[in-house]
Amino acid sequence: MRFGRLNHVGVATPSIERSLELYRTLFGAEPASPPFDLSAQGVRVCFVDAPNSQIELIEPLGPDSPIARFLEKNPDGGQHHLCFEVPDIEEARTFYEGQGTRVLGPTRIGAHGTPIFFLHPKDTGGMLTEIMESPKQAH
Ligand code: CO
Repeated sequence: MRFGRLNHVGVATPSIERSLELYRTLFGAEPASPPFDLSAQGVRVCFVDAPNSQIELIEPLGPDSPIARFLEKNPDGGQHHLCFEVPDIEEARTFYEGQGTRVLGPTRIGAHGTPIFFLHPKDTGGMLTEIMESPKQAH
């Protein structure tokens, strides 16, 4: 197993609008597209383009959202996960499961429309890590 590019850094926030304003002021950053709901995962998402990667701003859609629990501990928001690309998601999952790395939940469609899963932070040196299949078309 060898990872591909760092696709994005996930940042939890109580307000995507406020975070966008902050990123605009601090870094001159603009959203890659308008915010959108990922209802199945209980989150609202907006990507901000950086020259070499993206920031994924993540806001809870409701009190049951996994991000809501993160924000209880970190009310201002904060770094939530890293996302690395791999060429083949099933091959990656088989690799991690085969060596006993805990995979969180089923493989599902992520915010970029390609299959993803998460690795447990207790097995990744404390960093919740998203593994994402690279989009088939170059971007
Ligand atoms: Co992500």
